[in-house]
Amino acid sequence: MLRTHTCGELGIDHVGQTVTLCGWVQKKRDTGGLIFVDIRDRYGVTQLQADETNTDDAVVASLRTFNREFVVQITGEVIERASKNPKMPTGDIEIKVNAVQILNESKTPPFIIEDETDGGDELRMEYRYLDLRRNIVRKNLELRNRLNREVRNYLDGQEFIEVETPVLIKSTPEGARDFVVPSRMNAGQFYALPQSPQTFKQLLMVSGFDRYYQIVKCFRDEDLRADRQPEFTQIDCEMSFVTREDVLSTFEGLIRHLFKTVKNFDLPEVPIMEYDDAMKYYGSDKPDTRFEMKFVELNDVAQNKGFKVFDSAELVVGICAKDIAESYSRKKIDELTKFVQRPQIGAKGMVYVKYNKDGSFKSSVDKFYTQEDLKEWAHKMQAEPGDMLFVLSGDTNKVRKQLNELRLELGNRLGLRDPQKYSALWVVDFPLLEQDEETGHWHAMHHPFTSPKAGQEALLDDPAQIGNIKANAYDMVVNGVELGGGSIRIFQRPMQEKMLSLLGFTPEEAKAQFGFLMDAFEYGAPPHGGIAFGFDRICAVFGGVDSIRDFIAFPKNNSGRDVMINAPSAVDDEQLKELFLALDMPTEENEEGEEAETETSGQEEK
Ligand code: AMO
Repeated sequence: MLRTHTCGELGIDHVGQTVTLCGWVQKKRDTGGLIFVDIRDRYGVTQLQADETNTDDAVVASLRTFNREFVVQITGEVIERASKNPKMPTGDIEIKVNAVQILNESKTPPFIIEDETDGGDELRMEYRYLDLRRNIVRKNLELRNRLNREVRNYLDGQEFIEVETPVLIKSTPEGARDFVVPSRMNAGQFYALPQSPQTFKQLLMVSGFDRYYQIVKCFRDEDLRADRQPEFTQIDCEMSFVTREDVLSTFEGLIRHLFKTVKNFDLPEVPIMEYDDAMKYYGSDKPDTRFEMKFVELNDVAQNKGFKVFDSAELVVGICAKDIAESYSRKKIDELTKFVQRPQIGAKGMVYVKYNKDGSFKSSVDKFYTQEDLKEWAHKMQAEPGDMLFVLSGDTNKVRKQLNELRLELGNRLGLRDPQKYSALWVVDFPLLEQDEETGHWHAMHHPFTSPKAGQEALLDDPAQIGNIKANAYDMVVNGVELGGGSIRIFQRPMQEKMLSLLGFTPEEAKAQFGFLMDAFEYGAPPHGGIAFGFDRICAVFGGVDSIRDFIAFPKNNSGRDVMINAPSAVDDEQLKELFLALDMPTEENEEGEEAETETSGQEEK
């Protein structure tokens, strides 16, 4: 070893020992007679000092050449500090240097490598390897590692076995576009990268593995957001001979284990909420239940009083914010109105009612409603004097979405979404299929392998009922984030064929795409079900932030680029030729066409 200790472990007990440390120079302070240097490694920071009067000249000279991020090895004696720094774990001591070796020099880094940095997002992404030296970022990856280990501990203890499934596969529909990989050995043909190992884990159940898991990369070519990356990691699981309740209790156990071991937090029993209720009371299938503010429908008390906006609406619905009536200024109300009117949210306006401490009401619709009317609203919303009501109206689905946004925004503004608090929830009984408003086509809300709820199978034959069928599917939601989702699967060929046909596959297409799975179902497929968690999202929730990027060592930016290695990038003509990709294909440079379809037809011709 080039060192005897790390930069994070020395304390008062080591005083008097001669030690050798290696690390990166974080800071240097040269007061003329005395030189102080902080060196850092993964474990911490230690202060070095050298006094010109009693340190070897060569050592002093060498210390003076130190620059930020030089990699150095130093030997010296641990001494007690005259002025201790209680904020630093090693703050009781410093090292009186008596030998120095520069192991490698460093250019001045493009940003300061400390908790508070001057580097912007793009710059830090470009030099991600330097960003990763920062405590905050490293700690995130340490948290990820810890969670990873605890996931394995729990699942190993439950007899799950990890099996790796292939990455070069055929498309599995999970609702996003596939990333495709051209095959050199099969001209004009492509693999797809898995959006998830869904079909493989089902085949493993047919093979009798009984309990499978895999911490696995998945790939989805979709629009990116804070909680979405084009490649991300799932904790993918499947079990045989189980009901929904078995899956829920097994994976509630996993989440509880993670909270206990990593956060020392006893997660209470996870409540189950039906999808219809989640939509009715929160306007979202992933409600943040850290705070109440449930929706209350007000049609019966707010309509037919002469206020046209409400009278013509399908739904009038409101939320009650506790104890803010007196403090909520006109300016803040205007900000909220503007917030709901933003095009992304699209509300026309917002009605508010202040329930004053003296029992009177002040609202933005006083012209239309008497004090008695407003009292009825307040009663319905279980409001108390001091509370404030916010009411929106419009088409049911739209207005619920808008009020969900307003609820979350209010939650943020009122400090009700504490990242150190955790509230988990199972959302169940999703619709099995949803209809595209424009084309009228049915889509699987989860994926085509999800079974209908027990007892509802026959409804698949009744066109009038298709939209009402519930899926035997479930999502785990924590703090308003969809952490995972899964379902009890179809495991018999006729049902899978029926489902694919409803989704618009001809028998030939169904056979071509999923024949292998349906064939397998004919060789003794056990009833089975499972779930996949977004591992990056679990890390972000445990880390108390919204963005999963912070928990991925080398993430992509919002345009799907890795700006450090500059990917994606063009490949040379030779490589294209080998892959049978047309050289005269439209590219950005010749600007002839943008559609992938054009490119595919180009390839086929070739
Ligand atoms: P689903 O599509 O719901 O289900 O995905 C499971 C979980 O994966 C996470 N996730 C993502 N995380 C980061 N970036 C993304 N682009 C991204 N997309 C999804 C979410 C989500 O809950 N095969 C099924 C599971 C099953 O049925 O067992 C599936 O993949 O946290």
